Amino acid sequence: MATDRTFYLETFGCQMNAHDSEKVIGTLEQQGYRRVESEEEADLILYNTCSIRDKAEQKVFHRLQDYKTLYKAGKRFGVLGCVAQQEGEKIFARAPHVSLVSGSASYRRLPEMLSRLEAGEKRITGLDDRQTEETFETEFTARQNPYRGYITIIEGCDKFCAYCVVPYTRGKERSRRSSSVLDEARRIADQGYTEIQLLGQNVNSYRDPEGKRSFAELLAAVGETVGIRRVRFTTSHPRDFTRDIVEAIDAVPALCDHVHLPVQSGSSRILNAMRRDYTAEEYLEKIAWLKAARRPISLSTDIIVGFPGERPDDFIETMDLLAKVEYDCVFGFKYSARPNTPALTMIDSIPDEEKARRLQVLLERQREIQRVNYAKHLGQTVEVMVEGFNPAREQVVGRSSQNKPVNFSCAQAIAPAPGTYLNVRITTTHPNSLVGQAV
Ligand code: SAH
Ligand code: SF4
Ligand code: F3S
Repeated sequence: MATDRTFYLETFGCQMNAHDSEKVIGTLEQQGYRRVESEEEADLILYNTCSIRDKAEQKVFHRLQDYKTLYKAGKRFGVLGCVAQQEGEKIFARAPHVSLVSGSASYRRLPEMLSRLEAGEKRITGLDDRQTEETFETEFTARQNPYRGYITIIEGCDKFCAYCVVPYTRGKERSRRSSSVLDEARRIADQGYTEIQLLGQNVNSYRDPEGKRSFAELLAAVGETVGIRRVRFTTSHPRDFTRDIVEAIDAVPALCDHVHLPVQSGSSRILNAMRRDYTAEEYLEKIAWLKAARRPISLSTDIIVGFPGERPDDFIETMDLLAKVEYDCVFGFKYSARPNTPALTMIDSIPDEEKARRLQVLLERQREIQRVNYAKHLGQTVEVMVEGFNPAREQVVGRSSQNKPVNFSCAQAIAPAPGTYLNVRITTTHPNSLVGQAV
């Protein structure tokens, strides 16, 4: 085991990556490593990478370039995550100072890979062939988020949407045993967390290897964990989104009033080309269930504009869908061609300026929708969980159950700690946030 070795870890990408990093940090600490805050202080420099879009992928190579002189000082570099899995050994050619390349499906082997690194090996790989059935579970998770405990319930993806790298970077879809998930929920609650977020590329494609619980039943069981006040889950796939999920939200108070349901496009023709396995009509039917719930379920989504072959009339259908659903939050992206994906064989014919124009039109329309949605909270009192403090504005920042950001002032001399719940009366609304006063 190493003694007084240090590491630096920087994370890019989604919440799955952020949580993987918590597990990687815990594993390294268990191996005798100590985390430091800068590349210069570290013996081992790790980047946990993302390759969802072109720009995300470039970041890691820029970072490796910026710090490559540190190699001469005896420091070692490792690339983890999605770029690692996607580029594999090609990374050694492009950045020869890298010694370790590992995708997320191989993190179980990290202790072994670390000892080989310490023994001086220069070309260590942990690459997945979409065969593994294993999930990365560890009791050593070093939780970095002060108010939210993450739990991975399903890893990988078998959906193969035409534009997406994830099935190639995260391996095949595999679920954790529901009893193991519930044990972790219990441990998180014992550590003092009151909010849990269940994670997976498609959480609702969950299939319990023990055959004990459906996704909705697991969700309800996590929500019934003593001490847990808020449960979130992300991301849901529309195809596998079933009515019992809505029923669970209605029945279990701890499940939050929010569902993120990425639609990608409002045109069934484009959805078909994207291989999403649902039509716009089917999607809207599921939205209707959510809107008919007793709880005020807030909706958010992801949309890609400029997918190969997207015509102006397809884009208009996306705009129409936006108006029908009235989301509270939309993540909009310009399509970018990704390695290995089926969409690479389609001609990426829409110029970048046109993609940018469509994105801007979309986001401007959405801003107006949100302006109206958020204004409905004026004068209401909402329960907010504190996430931090903004000293510049002297405001406490937090979120409502619906996942809306709430910034507020508070009579207490000392700002309430992250994880505290307060009722806030809303006095001002914006298209992306609510402002108020603790009551
Ligand atoms: N598993 C989730 C999404 C994961 S990726 C789902 O199926 O919805 C997060 C978002 O990135 C996607 O929803 C999509 O909108 C966007 N995205 C993925 N690949 C992309 C690409 N090649 N170009 C542009 N946006 C992309
Ligand atoms: Fe990517 Fe589709 Fe899988 Fe989501 S469901 S991760 S978009 S392939
Ligand atoms: Fe990026 Fe991999 Fe997540 S590509 S978005 S880090 S699954």
